[in-house]
Amino acid sequence: MRAAWAAINLDALAHNLRLIRQQAPGKRIIAVLKANAYGHGLARIAEALSSVEALGVARLDEALELRKSGITQPIVLLEGFFAAEQLPVLAAGNIQPVLHHEWQIEALLAHGGISDPLKVWLKVDTGMHRLGVEPDSAKKWYQALSASQNVNGQPVLMSHLACADDSEHEKNSSQLGVFGQLVLDIEPVSTSLANSAALFATLGAEYDWVRPGLALYGINPLTRSAPENSPVTYLRPVMNLNADVISTRAIGAGDTVGYGATWSSAVPTQLGIVAIGYGDGYPRHAPEGTPVWINGVCYPLVGRVAMDMITVNLGAESSVKVGDTAQLWGEQLPVETVAKWVGTIPYELLCNVAKRVTLEY
Ligand SMILES: Cc1ncc(COP(=O)(O)O)c(C=O)c1O
Repeated sequence: MRAAWAAINLDALAHNLRLIRQQAPGKRIIAVLKANAYGHGLARIAEALSSVEALGVARLDEALELRKSGITQPIVLLEGFFAAEQLPVLAAGNIQPVLHHEWQIEALLAHGGISDPLKVWLKVDTGMHRLGVEPDSAKKWYQALSASQNVNGQPVLMSHLACADDSEHEKNSSQLGVFGQLVLDIEPVSTSLANSAALFATLGAEYDWVRPGLALYGINPLTRSAPENSPVTYLRPVMNLNADVISTRAIGAGDTVGYGATWSSAVPTQLGIVAIGYGDGYPRHAPEGTPVWINGVCYPLVGRVAMDMITVNLGAESSVKVGDTAQLWGEQLPVETVAKWVGTIPYELLCNVAKRVTLEY
């Protein structure tokens, strides 16, 4: 019997990458691998994605871990550097910062000790109002960076969409408009806008680099339901989060379950205890009814999620027994469904999978 493990299906990953290439023919791909490749294991996922043109991470430590694992593709640091002292490390590691704030650009322009000029990305705030320089200063910064000895070639001009998951959101057209105008004004050599949702909603997917994260892992990035047979419906989940049933028991009407005795059964029933809990990254606030798949049936979670186990209501007639394997999310039970029950998004469930959960490839 086994406690929680995540079976990572690298064939599904390769399939999703093919689908992404079909969706963005001729475009270059930055595979987004931050937060331990969305919980799937940074180095192993990077190795499996050796054909993509670049890898994207959020933190310098993640980039350095990739280099330590022997990964040689260009790495894009999506939040750029956090201190000017990191610049020589970036130069030595072929790590390309996204420059999203004036202080970063000024620090790079003023730096005196970079061995190899850096390839850089210039991020413009087209309306998300999080990271990026103002559109009316973008041309000035683009030109200053292009002329700098610390910069290799010209920056890639990029931005990020706030609402690409909802293709009908009015914010999309305003952001696309601002970015399109900047591309006309600046005439950058290279451009990038689309994350997974934008790619499948075809919003800005025509620019040179696409930046899929979620879709690589087989999760539908769109919040509106997609028409049958649309490309996004062919994504296949990469992570299968499993754990075994370690106990079963019969309880009578009125008996309660677990900490706080928060749930009781109205009728006599069978319970299954599954060896996964919030210590493994299963969300503690998962409500009663959250589905858990066992032997082809989805059973409802009952009672509180504990650190190491959860309880499911198997009903009076269940054949589930000790040693059977439950799936918390994966091919049998979409993580999108579980996320809705829990009131969160698939990203959070995936990247919260804890260290003690073994990843099996
Ligand atoms: C700048 C940028 N591009 C691309 C992505 C990938 O997004 P997604 O996982 O939705 O495809 C992210 C992730 O948050 C990001 O911050």
